[in-house]
Amino acid sequence: MKLFDVYPLNPIEIVKGKGSLVWDNNGQEYLDLYGGHAVISIGHTHPHYVERLTDQLNKIGFYSNSIRIRGQEELAEKLGHVSGKVDYQLFLCNSGAEANENALKLASFYNGRKKVIAFKGAFHGRTSLAVSCTDNPKIIAPVNETDHVVFLPHNDLEALQDAFTTYGNEICAVLIEGIQGVGGIRPATNEFLQLIRSLCDQYNAVYVADSVQCGYGRSGKFYSHDYAGVNADVYTMAKGMGNGFPVAGISIAPKFKPWHGMLGTTFGGNHLACAAALSVLEVIEQDHLMGNAASIGAYLTEELNKFKQVREVRGRGLMIGIDLPEELSHVKKELLFKHHIFTGEAKPNVIRLLPALNLTKAHADQFLDAFGQVLNA
Ligand SMILES: Cc1ncc(COP(=O)(O)O)c(C=O)c1O
Repeated sequence: MKLFDVYPLNPIEIVKGKGSLVWDNNGQEYLDLYGGHAVISIGHTHPHYVERLTDQLNKIGFYSNSIRIRGQEELAEKLGHVSGKVDYQLFLCNSGAEANENALKLASFYNGRKKVIAFKGAFHGRTSLAVSCTDNPKIIAPVNETDHVVFLPHNDLEALQDAFTTYGNEICAVLIEGIQGVGGIRPATNEFLQLIRSLCDQYNAVYVADSVQCGYGRSGKFYSHDYAGVNADVYTMAKGMGNGFPVAGISIAPKFKPWHGMLGTTFGGNHLACAAALSVLEVIEQDHLMGNAASIGAYLTEELNKFKQVREVRGRGLMIGIDLPEELSHVKKELLFKHHIFTGEAKPNVIRLLPALNLTKAHADQFLDAFGQVLNA
């Protein structure tokens, strides 16, 4: 049997990791500023994470949602505290797409409506409705096509106001990333998120904050949407939540009332997933990782802005997009193959930095030095 070949692969086999470093099967060391696509939040093989997971695995790894799982209650309590949304409710699932799917389903149960507002450049995952809200026709199969989704230009206040005037009480939800990731690291403006909040209030629509990539402390605040100073109705999260263990969730405002059978999953919120998510929150809190993300992110941004070849540096905290001109399209590959530094990318020519939230200044400097060498070669 062969693998179903859907991924363009780098010819590198990673076999070991520690903090922000990984090693390949030949013993070559790499600096990881990509984190397997924003997933590694507290660093590879963090001792507390390994201990928590090992300990849980030795007791029990899995049981379904037919019994009480105390780890879920502990996780809800801790997440409420660390995210600052203490009165919200938690539903656990397994991936970012699934989180968005559940958030939209919840919104639709809540107000009985079907129309979803999404934005140009957005990425929300690959399940049916999540992919329909994703601005990439190439990954939308005919079976996913729907008239329910309206795409608006990102950060366009007038277009948003017009859409509400046109569709009014038909609008079920507005789904927006606090910082577009796949779209090239493009933050939503505070004014835009504030307008979403007030229009959703006015029309009883649901504000869904996709925090799958930009959440869990990455931006320097727990949810990057928090920069706007208004609450969303539902926050979706995944990636950094489990530091590599597949776990996702939605944080749900108190006005949503659950009923048995409304949402459900077999694997979501199992014992191991909760141990992983709890250990991540414990490290984020104890080691002040949101503060570190904010300060190392600000340092990197300031230094990157000094390179005159860079067109623009975007993002917040440790979610940084370096927009380069076309003639510098070789930079990402050179960073990887000459300097052994993993970074991410976005089309057409944006380098994405999505490192662990405990990235040190020394590692930031290592990257800046290599980046300068590649640019000035
Ligand atoms: C903003 C955003 N939402 C949703 C998803 C989908 O998450 P998953 O791949 O875990 O389904 C992603 C994945 O890249 C994402 O960046």
